[in-house]
Amino acid sequence: MATLVAGIDSSTQSCKVLICDAETGAIVREGRAKHPDGTQVDPAHWWSALQEAIDAAGGLDDVAAVSVGGQQHGMVVLDSAGEVIRPAMLWNDTSSADAAATLVEELGAQAWAEAVGTVPVASLTVAKLRWLADHEPQNAARVAAVCLPHDWLSWKLAGATDLEALFTDRSDVSGTGYWSPATGDYRRDLVQQALGHDVVLPRVLAPNESGGALAYGNSTAVIGPGAGDNAAAALGLGMTPGDVAVSIGTSGVVSAISQNVAADSSGSVAGFADATGEFLPLAVTLNAARVLDAAAKMLRVDHARLAELALEAPRGCDGLVLVPYLEGERTPNKPHSTGAVHGLTLQTSTPAHFARAAVEGMLLALADGLDAMVAEGTVAQRISLIGGGSKSEAVRRIAPSVFGLDIVVPREGEYVALGAARQAAWVLSGEDQPPVWPLDGTQIYAATDEDLAATEVLRKQYARARDLTLDRP
Ligand code: XUL
Repeated sequence: MATLVAGIDSSTQSCKVLICDAETGAIVREGRAKHPDGTQVDPAHWWSALQEAIDAAGGLDDVAAVSVGGQQHGMVVLDSAGEVIRPAMLWNDTSSADAAATLVEELGAQAWAEAVGTVPVASLTVAKLRWLADHEPQNAARVAAVCLPHDWLSWKLAGATDLEALFTDRSDVSGTGYWSPATGDYRRDLVQQALGHDVVLPRVLAPNESGGALAYGNSTAVIGPGAGDNAAAALGLGMTPGDVAVSIGTSGVVSAISQNVAADSSGSVAGFADATGEFLPLAVTLNAARVLDAAAKMLRVDHARLAELALEAPRGCDGLVLVPYLEGERTPNKPHSTGAVHGLTLQTSTPAHFARAAVEGMLLALADGLDAMVAEGTVAQRISLIGGGSKSEAVRRIAPSVFGLDIVVPREGEYVALGAARQAAWVLSGEDQPPVWPLDGTQIYAATDEDLAATEVLRKQYARARDLTLDRP
């Protein structure tokens, strides 16, 4: 009988469990359950959703190893008895924006980038700790340990109550703002600076090290270190240095496996670690799939028609450029800016030109994120397009001209959970490298000579328009 492993994705919206053949990665069973909405959530909901998803996947009794991937950055604070003190503040809770700005003022952007690879923004755990110290001093004083969503779930799965039993991995801890990807050490001084006192922090495991045994049902499985969702997805996609993932969801995330640690004091690139021992520089744009939604709404068409229209217009839209800062922007840091359309002429005033300009503009903004990563030492050889927006045929066909690279579209799937499962199989194998799991059903959109010839023109005309936006009135 095949050896089975389980991968869990505890994401912002839901919990997914995949049970896979450890040797081939073939999915044999799966289950899922919803998480409540909101940017502050009691971790107990994640635990009950995880149990529901495990049940739906037929349990873990026949599984030999399990790993948890999860939404990054969320602040889970525990008291000395191991009880959760308050609802977890999630990555998308922006109440900590001022706290982040204050931390940057106190130390300087350059010093943060050098210390932890990332200049704090509202998402980072360190900013949430400062928010807690400022707004809930009584809760802050009770904090005995701080961990991330995936760390807490691994700890629950191990049946642990002792704070010293908490463990995490390089990829997720690199999003806290108090761990250095360059040295592999915690910066406890920064925890103290944010929270006011020292706390227990999870032990950081090696990428294939076990954190203990599962205490769930009748299973004797080992538990892997787990990972942040972006790093787990990279593992699920089998990315290696040179591979870039462009995820087009509510927000856009560009991430890459890199052998160089990033330390970008402009704040465009988050210098995270990956789940294999390398690094995972990452840039986030706020305007991705919703730019397509907005364009479809403005043209009163559905997404299929939007894609058809976009593909009727020529590369570069005869000079029409849409700057997609509809929600302000994070990369570049222009939180109050608005979108803009430039280059309207009688020739370009057509639905097709507008549709294509929206697709190109959204992708060009993501290409800016990739440029910032390349400036920090990332090597980009090919791009995997993932997320809801990657279903658009127009996005797939236009992307090669924007990035000047071949585009790979993996089959739709739960790559975070798959990556976690692959990590679990790796832990079980005791090998130096994760097992090779074939990915079938991948489509390739190769960059043609016409695409490559258009890239420079597209990038130049976008750059000219990009900074001509107005802030919100
Ligand atoms: C990365 C980030 C998001 C969350 C989503 O910095 O904030 O990708 O990990 O779960």
